This record gives sequence, C-alpha cells and structure tokens, in this order.
Amino acid sequence: MCGIFGYIGKGKNVPQLVLAGLKSLEYRGYDSWGIASLDKQGRIRIKKKTGKIGENNVETLPDNGMALGHTRWATHGGVTVANAHPHLDCSGKITVIHNGIIENYLELKKPLIKKGHIFRSETDTEVAVHLIEDILADHKKNSVKTVKEDFAESVRLAFKKMSGLNAIIVMEAGSQVFVAAKNGSPLTIGRGTVQNEENLLASDAHAILPFTRDLYFMEDDEVVTVGRKEITVRKLADGTKKQIKFQQVNWQIREEVKGKFTHFMLKEIYDQIKVLQSVASADKVELSKLAALIAKSYGTYMIGCGTAAYACLAGTYIFSKIAKKHVNFSIASEFGYLLDFLTKQSLVIGLSQSGETIDLLDSLKKAKEKGATIVALVNVLGSSLYRLSDHKLLLQAGSEKAVVSTKAFTAKLAYLMMLAYILAGKAELGKNYLLKAVQAVEAILKSDFQQKIINLAQKLASRQHIYLIGRGISYPIALESALKIKEASYIHAEGFAGGELKHGVIALIEKNTPCIGFLPNDESYNDTLSGLMEMKSRGGMIIGVSFRHHEIFDEYLPVSDCGIASAIPNAVAGQLLGYYLTVQKGVDPDKPRNLAKSVTVK
Ligand code: AGP
Repeated sequence: MCGIFGYIGKGKNVPQLVLAGLKSLEYRGYDSWGIASLDKQGRIRIKKKTGKIGENNVETLPDNGMALGHTRWATHGGVTVANAHPHLDCSGKITVIHNGIIENYLELKKPLIKKGHIFRSETDTEVAVHLIEDILADHKKNSVKTVKEDFAESVRLAFKKMSGLNAIIVMEAGSQVFVAAKNGSPLTIGRGTVQNEENLLASDAHAILPFTRDLYFMEDDEVVTVGRKEITVRKLADGTKKQIKFQQVNWQIREEVKGKFTHFMLKEIYDQIKVLQSVASADKVELSKLAALIAKSYGTYMIGCGTAAYACLAGTYIFSKIAKKHVNFSIASEFGYLLDFLTKQSLVIGLSQSGETIDLLDSLKKAKEKGATIVALVNVLGSSLYRLSDHKLLLQAGSEKAVVSTKAFTAKLAYLMMLAYILAGKAELGKNYLLKAVQAVEAILKSDFQQKIINLAQKLASRQHIYLIGRGISYPIALESALKIKEASYIHAEGFAGGELKHGVIALIEKNTPCIGFLPNDESYNDTLSGLMEMKSRGGMIIGVSFRHHEIFDEYLPVSDCGIASAIPNAVAGQLLGYYLTVQKGVDPDKPRNLAKSVTVK
C-alpha cells in the first residue's frame, strides 16, 4: 500500500520532481514520506517526514539528476521518521524503497545482525538494504565485474531470498543506476526521451504519464537495471536478459481538482449525477457483449473488497431479480475457498475502483489458472486488474481521489443494473429507472435535503454506535452506508440484514440508539418496517430512508421511488451522512487515518 517512484535524467530539480510524483501516489498511503537524492559527489542525501506531503518541499536536497521517493502505509513498525523510507545500509551508499511485505524478514534479519549490521528501524524493508549490502560486499571480494554489474546481481540475489509480494527500487551511490525488482506488487517502467536521457520507475503508471507514454509493466519475478541510457530487464531466477516490449499508451487521465468543494469526497458525491447519466447512455453494444458472456457462463462469480464487495453483493440481487440469473458473491479475500468449483465455463467478475487491490488480483490470477474467464469492472485504465482481465468495462467515473469511495460504487451499481436489464431484454426500462435514480440523487443533493442530513449528523456525531438495516438489495446498501460512516467519521456503525435483528443484534438496542432503515418501495418494505418497530419499542431512535414517511420515524430522509435503482439514491444518502459526520468531527474524509485508497498488501 505504499507508493514508490524513481527518476533519472536531465529533469530540473529532480528531488522536487520526485516529490510531485509521490503526491500523485499518495492515495496508496500517507503515513509518512521520504526522498533520497544523489549529490554531485555521488553521496546519498535523504529527507523524510511523518504525515502527508502537503506543502512540504525538498529544495534543500542536492540535485544530481537521480532521486527516488516513497509514501508509506505502515505494515511493520509505527509511523515514525526512523521507519519512513528510504532506508540506508550501514555504509550509507545503498538506499531502498519498498512496497509490499517481506514475510521472512525476521529470518533474514537475524544473520545480518550477527554479522554486525546495525538496524535503525523496525521495518521489514530495512532488511532488504542490509541484505543487498551484505551480498555486494561478498561479491566485490573476488569480482571481475563492474560495480554496476555487481550491484545489479546483488539486488537480484537478495530479492530472490525475500518471500511475500514485493516491489523494491534500490540506488547505489557509485553505480548511477536504479535496480528494481517486482513480485506481486505493481511496478511500471517509463522510457523517457533520449535527449533528456530520462527514465522512470513507479508503482503506478499514472505517476509516469506526465513524463512519457512509453511504458513497460513489469511482470512478476523480473529485475531491471535503469540508467540514463539503459533499461535492462532480467529474469529473477537466473539473471538472464529478457527482451521486453514497451507500449505507447494514449490514456487521457483527467486530473481532478476539488474546485469549490472542501473535500474530494463531497465533490465526488456530486459527480455521481454526471457519472450515472453517462452510464445510462453507455454504448449498449459493448454492454450487450458482456451481458452475453454472463448469460452463457456456467457459474458466474462477482468478487471484490470493501465497497466493491458490497457492489458485488448488490449485483447478486440485481441479477436474480431482473435477469433471473444466479450469480455467486464472494469477498475477494475469501474466494480461495471457491476455486475448486471453477471450470472453463466459469466467469469471474472482479469489481474494483483502483484495480490494484491485492486480494482481488490474487484471487483472479488463481481463477485464471483454473481456466475461468475474467471480467473487470474497474475505474482505473491500465491498472493491474485492467491488464489482467479478458474483458474490461471501465466505470469512467473520473479518478476518485477520496479514500472513501462514493461515485465508483454507484457507477458499479448502475452498470450492473444496465447489464441485468439488457440480459432481460429490457434495456430501455433499465435506462429509465437509472434516469429516475439520477433525479432522486439530484433531489438529495438539493440544499433542504442536505440540511436534514447536516442536522442528523449533528445529532449523531457524539454517538458510539449506529445500526443500519435493510433487506434484499437494501442489505448491501446498509453495509456500504455503515462503511462510509466508519471509515470517514470513525464512529462504529454496523449494517446488517433486517431479518437478522432478532437473531442477536437487537440485544444491542437501547434508549436512543440510532437505527437507520432503508425502505424502498419493494417487497422488503413491510418486513424492514416491522424490524424498525421492534427497535423503536426498545428505545431506538428510528431514521427512515424511504419513498414515504411513517409515524415511527423520528427522522425521515425522503428518497423517491425508482424501482431497484432506489439503491443508488439510498446509497448517496448514506454517503452524505458519512461525509457530514466527518465535518462534525473535524476529520479528513479524503485521507482517513490508517487507510489507503488502494490496498496493495494482504
Ligand atoms: C471504500 O470506501 C474503501 N476505501 C475500501 O473498502 C475500498 O472500497 C476497497 O479497499 C476496495 O478498493 P478497490 O475498489 O479499489 O478495489
């Protein structure tokens, strides 16, 4: 869940340029950041700090045309400057940045300590740089190769010893090259212009696009040496050179700005109107091809994590109700237990905003090995998921900057609804319901509804627990709304199926416990209402999200009826509540504590 970035070339103020690259990767983790730069004497100088990059600069770092940088999401060791990357070896001549988890770091660390290596951090990453130093020292003793060749070979041998999913970029003071290696975590090479003698490495292609569109997406178990005029890829296993093929990408990545909004989260909630409109008018030919794939598959699975998982769960209700098609749901990290049921007729649909979620990628790679066809519903063009899949459907929701996902969720719901209606031969009906949902969202985003939510957030901001119930498709909406509240405002919120209330959960309800019920105009209405009545009779504060008012509601959030598409405005009501709770609590919904936009470590 970290961002790594390296630049070598004739760019101006390279440390500052690397810092800008890191800012575009900060969605991957923002506990701390750091940059290492070479000075004119070929010495490594490092600046690293805890917290977000914000307005920091690295003007004090020397500039010799080569620097690397890192944004951290802590996996081993607290959020401290000592644990921030880059990490140095004992000699101060080798530095490393890392994304992933070195699962056997303690096993590797012990002999290094015995050999006298001094560790300054609690991280697994620092083991890598001392291991490289140790192997290089042995190599130099009787080597006939150049320092650069010995350095590259040492990184290869060290990386081979590391278990887990990792990507590292290493810089050695005398070699004037980066050596990088990848296994599981993403790493892209950017080939710059010859006159600039410029080459780059980054966790994510988007950080490289401002410099070049000539990209190579490293494959697992590859090691690369990157210099001003050199890009040499080798096999991790035996160091033999690999012929690689760069690709020119023509992706247009629109840089999103907050504009008049205080936070990206609120901006992205408003973006949903145009995103949903674009889904309603999406190319039916492309959607029909995907719908046909679903129709002919024998065993369709929808998998994802977090918000994406809730969209998958909603998808099972949508396909069951609209297309009479049985679709299986699994949280991506739990999918391993279903792999044995996959055949060549299976279709596994991965839902993801970032397309970099490791639990999802891992499961889909295993599904692919079983012969299943892989489909991606993904928001990031060129992401690992996008490139892994046999068929792709881009959400085209625009880049989602807030860690708290909103527009990507409703875009997934909208596409799943369109696919189900197309499968049922009722594309126009689906489009009409979707456009009704747009109107319902527009109504929610009007000031009087928002004021209701703001008032409600003021009442709930000091609460310890909030419970949300829904049945049918409203069940995943309850789960998703609970997640918005939890991850944005840090208030404990629990969503659950309305029918589960009396199987234990109702024991939690006491006087004034906030209980939110999603009551769209469907077959679940009466049963969910009964559940809310039972919560009320135990003192609960009842908040109804529904197409009509009911006397048991202490608070009522009106959401017009738009058939199964009511799930979309209901979700937006949950998003807004999550957002305004953060405002009440003075926390940042764009970068909440402990989280990252893309979970790239298990
Ligand atoms: C969403 O608000 C959360 N930040 C998180 O659950 C997220 O949805 C999950 O990590 C999956 O991310 P993805 O869609 O990029 O795969």
